[in-house]
Amino acid sequence: MDIRQQTADLRKKALGELSAIELLAGLESWRVRYLGKKSQLTEILRGLASLSIEERKEVGAISNTLKVELEAAFKAKEEALREQEMTSAASKDTIDTSLPGRPFPQGHLHPVSQAMNEIAGIFTGMGFQVLEGPEVEWDYYNFDMLNMPKEHPARAATDTFWIDTPPNERGWRMLLRTHTSPMQVRTMEKTRPPIRIVVPGIVHRYEATDATHLSMFNQIEGLAVDEGIGMADLKGTLHEFARRFFGLDRRVRFRCDFFPYVEPGAEMAVECAVCRGEGCRLCGGSGWIEVLGSGMVHPSVLEGVGIDSRKYSGFAFGMGIERVPLLRYGIEDIRLFYGSDLRFLRQF
Ligand code: PHE
Repeated sequence: MDIRQQTADLRKKALGELSAIELLAGLESWRVRYLGKKSQLTEILRGLASLSIEERKEVGAISNTLKVELEAAFKAKEEALREQEMTSAASKDTIDTSLPGRPFPQGHLHPVSQAMNEIAGIFTGMGFQVLEGPEVEWDYYNFDMLNMPKEHPARAATDTFWIDTPPNERGWRMLLRTHTSPMQVRTMEKTRPPIRIVVPGIVHRYEATDATHLSMFNQIEGLAVDEGIGMADLKGTLHEFARRFFGLDRRVRFRCDFFPYVEPGAEMAVECAVCRGEGCRLCGGSGWIEVLGSGMVHPSVLEGVGIDSRKYSGFAFGMGIERVPLLRYGIEDIRLFYGSDLRFLRQF
């Protein structure tokens, strides 16, 4: 076949195939086929030596031009494909800076924890120190040392969760503490007056739950022991607490109450947040909600821990924590706090 025709066909075929290639990876086999050592073009060039001088000139010129052209076409194609692959990769990775950010859900403390922190903060501001004590307690601290002898009604099995273990060598029995008051005794055993402490913590009572009662709840205990402490200090401290926590406009009420470990004893109630004294489901129709029990530490409790009751006196109080946000926000059912319903909890 005419060499001109042959190179023209080769050129057409090579360029046609080259332009059909779509990926960089497909280029190399094309290069081997048309420009490699075993390619038709290389063969033609190799065969030049056997041609006459005239023919050699002509065929040499044609085949060289084709070689240069194919090499240039290859380079251009390689460049174009590289460019194209880079832009398509970049467009896949693109960050759209105009998109709105994804929200990071942020949690917060449970309303009961918030109330506890705030209440403890008010008392530390008045010079009280925060302590914690065991939830699994001895009846010795929970009852005996608080002037509650063995036959006291508060010790009846219906009120207390007893731990099913034999008594220890001193005859003490284990229970889930029914109040934070055992920490009064534990603290006074180890520390001499002046004492000013508050003790936040969980307590348990074997009773039915309803809108204002839970069988597991939080309390904060307070104890102040020093020379010359009187009922006025108790009332002043607790009234000041109520003013700071509930606001100046909420009324509080003190009434006589009985606890074996105080004399005299008093309960403090706060005006109901829902009905403001009118009477509703939350306050059981009375218009008031009792938030704490308190009193002057009983002399026999002081003597029991070796504190001279003629020299020292003190006041103590114990407050139910769950009732406090209940009162503040006017929530009608205490069980909502532990229902784990985020629609409720998120509001605080
Ligand atoms: N411990 C009592 C209760 O659980 C409260 C209280 C504490 C009363 C301290 C008087 C003194 O209700």
